[in-house]
Amino acid sequence: MDSPNFGFLAVLLCVTMTLVTAEDPYHFFEWKVTYGTLSPLGVPQQAILINGKFPGPVINCTSNNNILVNVFNQLDEPLMFTWNGVQHRKNSWVDGTPGTMCPIQPGTNFTYKFQVKDQIGTYYYFPTTALHRAAGGIGILQVHSRPLIPVPFDNPADEFAVVIGDWFNKGHKSMKSLLDGGKSIGRPDGIHINGKSAQVGAQIEPSWTFEAGKTYRFRVCNAGMRTSVNFRFQGHDMKLVELEGSHLMQNDYMSMDLHVGQCMSVLVTADQPPKDYYLVVSSRFTKTPHSAVATVRYTGGKGPPSPDLPPHPPGNTAGIAWSINQFRSFRWNLTASAARPNPQGSYHYGKINITRTIKLVNSRNYIDGKLRFALNGVSHLETKTPLKLAEYFGVADKEFKYDLMPDDPPAEVEKNVKIAPNVLNGTYRNFIEIIFENRENTIQTYHLDGYSFFAVAIEPGRWAPEKRKNYNLEDAVSRHNVAVFPGCWAAIMTTLDNAGMWNLRSEMWERFYLGQQMYFSVLSPERSLRDEYSLPDTTQLCGIVTGLPKPAGYV
Ligand SMILES: *[C@@H]1O[C@H](CO)[C@@H](O)[C@H](O)[C@H]1NC(C)=O
Ligand SMILES: *[C@@H]1O[C@H](CO)[C@@H](O)[C@H](O)[C@H]1NC(C)=O
Ligand SMILES: *[C@@H]1O[C@H](CO)[C@@H](O)[C@H](O)[C@H]1NC(C)=O
Ligand SMILES: *[C@@H]1O[C@H](CO)[C@@H](O)[C@H](O)[C@H]1NC(C)=O
Ligand SMILES: *[C@@H]1O[C@H](CO)[C@@H](O)[C@H](O)[C@H]1NC(C)=O
Repeated sequence: MDSPNFGFLAVLLCVTMTLVTAEDPYHFFEWKVTYGTLSPLGVPQQAILINGKFPGPVINCTSNNNILVNVFNQLDEPLMFTWNGVQHRKNSWVDGTPGTMCPIQPGTNFTYKFQVKDQIGTYYYFPTTALHRAAGGIGILQVHSRPLIPVPFDNPADEFAVVIGDWFNKGHKSMKSLLDGGKSIGRPDGIHINGKSAQVGAQIEPSWTFEAGKTYRFRVCNAGMRTSVNFRFQGHDMKLVELEGSHLMQNDYMSMDLHVGQCMSVLVTADQPPKDYYLVVSSRFTKTPHSAVATVRYTGGKGPPSPDLPPHPPGNTAGIAWSINQFRSFRWNLTASAARPNPQGSYHYGKINITRTIKLVNSRNYIDGKLRFALNGVSHLETKTPLKLAEYFGVADKEFKYDLMPDDPPAEVEKNVKIAPNVLNGTYRNFIEIIFENRENTIQTYHLDGYSFFAVAIEPGRWAPEKRKNYNLEDAVSRHNVAVFPGCWAAIMTTLDNAGMWNLRSEMWERFYLGQQMYFSVLSPERSLRDEYSLPDTTQLCGIVTGLPKPAGYV
């Protein structure tokens, strides 16, 4: 089966797909995306709603399910969603990043179709166009294990989806104008919990209800623009059971740090005197602290929450050490089965030889007086035609050059930044190591589409090859987001076994928008349908590929 006959494969694929569709259930969603007015911090402003709501609907499914989301764009701007952390194996066609798809034009609709395959866990979706993420259009996507696959904890009495993040009162359109004008969006105005930002003592409706003695699963994602947060419950510990698609060795925590783009599941047991309790979410490492609360009510409970809040973890340098320590306490539970035991064929990842090391240094620059962010001296520029489509139709050379960015940071990486599409040619099935070295004084978070990766180390200082001896090569968590603290580095490892065009990005949206991102073009040498689906018939074309016939050699 190593170099299979192409026609045979096409037939095989059709048969396989028919079988898959016959067995695996479909979930259909119809989303009307509109503007509406929300006042998360008490100041009315234009928000992006899905079917009238923010957060948007929870996509609740089971591994291998097929998801169809028919999105009606009723905004006045092009719109596109990504399914953050969902791997879309062989299918970057629906990844929803500007390098993979054409956005949905105002007044039209498009149906995203994907299979969640062998994944379990907590993810979120959000709009990747303009600064829409600052205005809403965000929700949780949760994938359950199939019935026969054991989950390493008892079925919770209920589960609650919680989107948290910072919020800006400027409005997404003025924020975009600021960035387009070369300025920063500045600092956020507050924190929201599922679109609300109550403060201690306010009369608020409970957000969740507990029955005494039962255990509940909170699926929490930080979908903010730039702010790390800490969350904690009054009087209740949290048992961390899942992190971005992996079951963990279960530990109890009094408070959790959650950096931008990260998701986790915690179990909370209703074992306290019945009354109301706060969930507190507060900003981390910010000059101006912000926080918000929401309440949990015990059924039949009496009394408001106490005004005494659980302690905030240390800030500044001590807080960074605290947060790194917490990161190190996250261990993959090697005996707990995932959707299948060996999701990426790299279970013993510590024994695989590294075929490529890419060391990325982020920088913040002013170019002709305008703010930009870069990786190894390249600040990504969006192309008129999505990269994947330009590549597929054989016109990549008209839109971008591969490998402009070196694998090692050039000397004086903060200077001589060029603004250009940033695409690396990633060799199919290479086992790669990526080092993120953060020489800036603010925290970074990075997300990779299409893959999960092993987050093997975070340490202060600069990276050097001998630091590899400090990697966790046994039970690092397989996840899709890593935080890189100021003056620190982080190392991740993954196998590039998912063909497609995949975005590696700063999950901090100002940085993403102004260039701190890149794409891996991963093509299987045979370009066979075994390794990558062909262009879906429903794909919209734009830019220079509009109206081009499908290239020869593909079905
Ligand atoms: C979510 O999906 C799971 C598994 O299919 C199911 O058990 C659960 O009841 C669903 N939850 C909701 C709120 O629909
Ligand atoms: C748009 O919505 C209609 C009505 O639901 C549907 O039949 C059609 O397939 C959708 N178009 C696309 C491109 O998804
Ligand atoms: C790891 O998973 C196994 C198998 O599901 C489970 O029995 C065990 O309790 C888990 N260990 C921890 C520390 O969470
Ligand atoms: C990994 O590299 C070492 C040293 O270069 C070599 O001896 C070993 O055979 C390699 N292992 C694999 C699995 O390729
Ligand atoms: C990408 O790398 C492969 C070898 O790994 C090579 O065959 C191919 O030509 C390269 N593609 C481009 C566009 O540079």
